[in-house]
Amino acid sequence: MQRLIICCILIHFFVSPTLSIRINAATQGTLVNVIDQGARGDGKTDDSNAILSAWQRVCGMAGPATLVIPAGKVFFVKRLELDGPCKAQSVRIQFAGKIVAPSLDAWVGDKGKWIVISNVNGLTIDAEGGNIDGNGSSWWEKCKSCQRPTSLRFHNCNGLVVNSLSMTNSAGAHISVNGCNGAIFSHMNVIAPEHSPNTDGFDIANSKFVTIQDSTIATGDDCIAINGGCSNINATRLFCGPGHGISIGSLGRGGARETVEEVYVHNCSFIGTTNGARIKTWPGGSGYARKITFDQIILKNAQNPIIIDQNYGVKQLSSSEQAVMVSEVTYRGFVGTSAKDLAILLKCSTLGCFNIVFDNVDIVSSQPGKSAYASYYNAHGSVTNTVPKISLFK
Ligand SMILES: *[C@@H]1O[C@H](CO)[C@@H](O)[C@H](O)[C@H]1NC(C)=O
Ligand SMILES: *[C@@H]1O[C@H](CO)[C@@H](O)[C@H](O)[C@H]1NC(C)=O
Ligand SMILES: *[C@@H]1O[C@H](CO)[C@@H](O)[C@H](O)[C@H]1NC(C)=O
Repeated sequence: MQRLIICCILIHFFVSPTLSIRINAATQGTLVNVIDQGARGDGKTDDSNAILSAWQRVCGMAGPATLVIPAGKVFFVKRLELDGPCKAQSVRIQFAGKIVAPSLDAWVGDKGKWIVISNVNGLTIDAEGGNIDGNGSSWWEKCKSCQRPTSLRFHNCNGLVVNSLSMTNSAGAHISVNGCNGAIFSHMNVIAPEHSPNTDGFDIANSKFVTIQDSTIATGDDCIAINGGCSNINATRLFCGPGHGISIGSLGRGGARETVEEVYVHNCSFIGTTNGARIKTWPGGSGYARKITFDQIILKNAQNPIIIDQNYGVKQLSSSEQAVMVSEVTYRGFVGTSAKDLAILLKCSTLGCFNIVFDNVDIVSSQPGKSAYASYYNAHGSVTNTVPKISLFK
């Protein structure tokens, strides 16, 4: 058996030496290195086409195959769209190098996206040592209010696994997940300066069974934004901050019907964030945000540790007949400090929020001598062992 494998490898080398494609006898299948497909990795030459053609080889293989983006090189990429479906049931990307984006002046085409992976099932990205740098500073300075590209978009995927990827300095959001069923992100490092505008860590929409775990997200906007059409989203063991915390929504903008349910945020820290656990909906929308749990949360100097805002996006308190219904929201095991004395704000619509549960929450002001307080409107639920004091309608 052993001999047979070695023999096959030798034959393969012989048969297709010019393709420089290698068989790895382990699990990775055929390895296709972007360097062998013409990528320079000098940080200057546009390597988009070389990476694309390497991807097309990998994606077209009937058996297991791995796209290799090697360590020690910087790949300048103007834009990249890796499309499936691929022939094999699963594909791998082994990414240990660095990919960098053009600055604003050198941008070509669509300003909403940079690297897009669409319609690929069973994709595993092993990115130990790999970094995707959005080179966003020119955008932040010169293009604050214009559309800015999300660095990495996953669109229509099933069974995505991403390990140990470092994402830095995106011009817009770092990672978006849209139309995916089953995705696990582990040991991610998502970093951009606190002042960088709208540089969300993760934007998730229209997706289910997405887990983000054991990661650090420190950016200028939401650590994770969970938008309409999401269910079974699991955020576990995350260090979040600086940034705007973990946010459900905003939902229901312009009268839209949107739904989010089964969100589980567990064992996360919010350090110096402008929000912690946040739910925001626009007046006049419909649908729901329900079955949402924030459990075992550590706060350090977070500005709005717990906030439900059903009056999002408008100045005056609205008494709209319609609202995204907020219910079954649990805050359990919070401990730490609030940067402002208003630590808990529940601004529910006049229709009310229901089954809001506070259980073992202990938030104090980080300002010496000040005490934290809670403010709440139209909120129904139960409270156990919670500081600051809050009492909800039954
Ligand atoms: C990154 O952006 C800066 C301008 O902010 C630019 O000078 C530099 O060339 C860009 N890097 C690449 C690889 O294009
Ligand atoms: C969330 O993820 C954690 C860690 O992977 C796991 O233990 C837990 O069962 C998951 N919870 C849900 C509701 O999926
Ligand atoms: C998760 O919980 C453990 C044990 O309480 C704690 O040491 C760790 O800091 C927590 N992680 C985060 C990201 O909060």
